[in-house]
This record gives sequence, C-alpha cells and structure tokens, in this order.
Amino acid sequence: MDTPEKKKVIFSAIQPSGTITLGNYLGALRNWVKLQDNYNCIFAVADLHAITVRQEPKTFRQNILNAYALLLACGIDTEKSLFFIQSHVHTHAELAWVLNCYTQFGELSRMTQFKDKSAKHADNVNAGLFAYPSLMAADILLYQSDMVPVGADQKQHLELARNIAERFNGIYGNTFKVPEPYISTVGARVMSLQEPTKKMSKSDENVNAWVAVLDKPDTIMKKFKRAVTDSEAVVKVGEGKDGINNLIGIMSAVTGKTADEIAIEFEGKGYGDFKTAVAEAVIEEVKPIQARFDEYINNKDYLVEQYRKSAEIAEKISQRTLDKAMKKIGFIAK
Ligand code: TRP
Repeated sequence: MDTPEKKKVIFSAIQPSGTITLGNYLGALRNWVKLQDNYNCIFAVADLHAITVRQEPKTFRQNILNAYALLLACGIDTEKSLFFIQSHVHTHAELAWVLNCYTQFGELSRMTQFKDKSAKHADNVNAGLFAYPSLMAADILLYQSDMVPVGADQKQHLELARNIAERFNGIYGNTFKVPEPYISTVGARVMSLQEPTKKMSKSDENVNAWVAVLDKPDTIMKKFKRAVTDSEAVVKVGEGKDGINNLIGIMSAVTGKTADEIAIEFEGKGYGDFKTAVAEAVIEEVKPIQARFDEYINNKDYLVEQYRKSAEIAEKISQRTLDKAMKKIGFIAK
C-alpha cells in the first residue's frame, strides 16, 4: 500500500501587539489562511516574545485574546491547523533556554532588530530582547518545521534558527529539521499611506499612515482620502508615483483585478474618486472579518476551547523534540 504523501509542516507566529494592519493582513495572514489546505500548518500568538518590551498587564491580556480572536476571524481554522498561544505550551520556553546555550553572543549582537529595538527602548535592554531569536528558533524547531513564511524583517532571525539547528545537529547528530523560508508568490507589500516608500507599520506615529483591520468604516475612508499621492492625477502604475502604486496594489490585492484593469476602470477619473473606491473595497473586505471578530471576542468559552485544544496537541508534538534534544545533550529522563 502506498503511504499517503505527508504534508509539509509550516510554522509561523505573530506578536499580540494590539493592532493588525491591512499590511499584516494582505501581506501575511491572508496567505496563512490559504496555506492551511496544502500544508500541515502550526500557528501561534507569540506572547512570550511580546514581554521583551514592557507590557501593561490588563492591556496585554486583552491584546493576546484579541489577536487570537482576530486570526480566527481572518480564517485560521483550528479544524485544519494548530493555532495556540505560545505561553500555553511549556516546551517553547524550555527549548529556548537550551538553544540559548548553543547560540553565540556575537550572533545575537548582529541582529538588526536587536540593534533597532535596544536603541528604541534604551531604558530596558533586557536579556530577553537579546535572546529573542533563540526563542523564535525554539518555536520553529520544536515542530520539525519544513518552512516558515516570514517577512523581510524576520529573515535574519530565521537564518539564525537554521544556523542553530545545523550547529546542534553537527554536534549531536540529526535532531532538528533545518527550516527553509517560505517565499510567498502573492503576498502584497503594503506601504505607508503617508510615506509610500516606507512599509505600512502600526508603530508609525502618524495614525493616518496605516489602516487597521478593525478600523471603523469611516476611519478607513478618512485615512484613504488623506493618502499621499502625486500631482499627475492619472490612475496608473508609474515611476515616482509611489502613493498611487501602493493604492493600486491594495485595490488589486483586495479585488483580484490587475493593475491594468484598474487603470482602465479609472481612466479619466480623479484621485479623489479612486481613493474613495479603494477605501470602499477595503471596507467590504474587512466587514465580514470584523463581524466574525465581534462574535468570537464575545464568546470567551469558544476561544478557550479552541486554544486549549490546539495547545494540548502542540504540547505532545513538541515534547518529542524537546525530549530528543535533551537526551542527546545528556540530561537524564525523569
Ligand atoms: N518574531 C516574529 C515577529 O515579530 C513572530 C514570531 C515568533 C515568529 N516566533 C516565530 C515568526 C516563529 C515565525 C516563526 O513577527
């Protein structure tokens, strides 16, 4: 009998930072949802990573739950994938400690995110912020992940995870699968609405620069109407037209129309009409997500049931890897 082909394992996680932007959704989350049919997907809310910067307890608790509910609302399906809260699966913190001892000070010092974040939070350059990539390596390696969909900002961390895995395997023999980056062919790169050469980011001080998936329709409309464009007033992709290029990219990602189709549709129309149309399309796209989010966030029992179910399975799978690694090092099993 033929053994059915085993689906490849994909792991990814997102920090519970309070807001999920249109950029996060179109660039990453929407792809995660699609991956669920063809891969064995494991997703987590990375709450342990979040305490590398100071969190206010009440807000933190709410942010974790909101992130969980919002990802479900976007289409992460616990019937198809594992989707849990990182701190609920104790193996992550444990393997992270182990991996810390196989990660060099020099390697962690070279991480650009560490350099950026320690400059930004100069009063709290804690050891967790420094060791952040070894926790991320633990997340990935615990599930013998084949692939990790990551944006440009996390590529260096994934590279380090690969180095740690190879180093460990080199010392003790094959223990961890060395993960590959998953490069999406479709992910839209959404830029700031105010400075369209920069990536859309919720840490942007100018709130008009980004749109949140949970923004109210009139807020979305307002932000798109204020979007920075050029003076040419032609809805068409072009050099030096970063603002319009970005709006066309968003319109295309949301409606499935090509840039050419959009250019034809808006021929002879002004930027005002186009911005309104983009805002309307985005509002339509997020409307069902917002409705599902409201439903989930008001049904705590359902959320608890979902995250517990996945955490229980994740614990079993990851425990095997942790045990294997610890045994190889020489720890005594209890
Ligand atoms: N560090 C990632 C981010 O901030 C989130 C994350 C945590 C992650 N663990 C991961 C991403 C493992 C991919 C794989 O975006």
